[in-house]
Amino acid sequence: MSADRPVSGSIHFMPAAAATSEVRCDACGTPFELRYAFQQVAVRSESYRVCSQACRASVLEPARSAERASARGPVRIAVLNQKGGTGKTTTAVNLAAGLADAGRRVLLIDTDAQGHVAVSLGVRGEKTLYHVLVEEAEPARVAVPLTEHLHVITSSSTLASAEIYLARMNEGRDRILRSRLASATQYDYVILDCGPSLSVLNMNALTYADELLVPVSCDFLSLVGVRQILKTVKHVNELLLHPVRVLGVLPTFYDQRNRISDESVKTLESHFGDRVLPPIRVNTRLKEAPSHGQTIFQYAPDSRGAADYRRVVRWVLERTENGARQRHGEEARA
Ligand SMILES: Nc1ncnc2c1ncn2[C@@H]1O[C@H](COP(=O)(O)OP(=O)(O)O)[C@@H](O)[C@H]1O
Ligand SMILES: [Mg+2]
Repeated sequence: MSADRPVSGSIHFMPAAAATSEVRCDACGTPFELRYAFQQVAVRSESYRVCSQACRASVLEPARSAERASARGPVRIAVLNQKGGTGKTTTAVNLAAGLADAGRRVLLIDTDAQGHVAVSLGVRGEKTLYHVLVEEAEPARVAVPLTEHLHVITSSSTLASAEIYLARMNEGRDRILRSRLASATQYDYVILDCGPSLSVLNMNALTYADELLVPVSCDFLSLVGVRQILKTVKHVNELLLHPVRVLGVLPTFYDQRNRISDESVKTLESHFGDRVLPPIRVNTRLKEAPSHGQTIFQYAPDSRGAADYRRVVRWVLERTENGARQRHGEEARA
């Protein structure tokens, strides 16, 4: 385990150092003299030496966030819209990568048999979501660690057979994903990239998720589709007895030169109020990034696409962490 990534666990404070001596800070690497109690931190059985309060916080934060996460489980967000080509995969991939860059532990799952997540990130999982659903493979073993914080469960055309497997079940077919992912508690966020249909797989995604993020492209027909999404959410809440709610609606393919773009955002705001996120502008870099197997933050960090998705990441963090999440839960029950 690396020094700046302590495991979760109870946090103890060491007594003050008896004598001063020069050591290297475990967080930033700067040599310093051990003088104060706060400069020694123990997280579970590991001890760390830190030069400042800021370094101390950076050592403690991952452990605290892990403790919070294990207490309440990951935030589960399905990126869903029954319409194809609205920016679902682009949003799922870049949101997951952005949250991981912000230090959160993220599991990104492709629930679409088209397998676009794997292509977009240039990964090939030996096993896929098919193995988790049908063969009951352990999600943590199937997930490919792309970075320390971003793990991915990919899909491929074999998922179509998983769909048939699920459809043939007499009972509980909508709950299989939920039960298979029950052990994936080590993550702060699980992001599901959904396919464009109302398939049994998407019903599974909805039954697993607590929150929906709905990318809607800024054109007239997409707005018509939004009504369909609200119906689906109502249906899931009534029939599956599972409280999933719309966390946010993300206008995509926003083009300032087009009047329909502004009109679309206004229409969405009239339905969803402050749950409408700042829009994602049309950006060629976003279109190019998947063919390089890279996220927008890797491929073109200074692009408009990267700036727009950074805003999405911040927005999601603000709406889902700590008190915000609890308040949302209360709203959903109200
Ligand atoms: N803001 C954007 N600007 C330009 N191209 C985009 C943008 N968002 C997505 N794309 C491209 O549009 C296509 C459809 O997007 P995608 O995320 O795959 O949609 P979905 O998953 O909903 O089918 C892809 O080729 C993608 O690279
Ligand atoms: Mg897609």
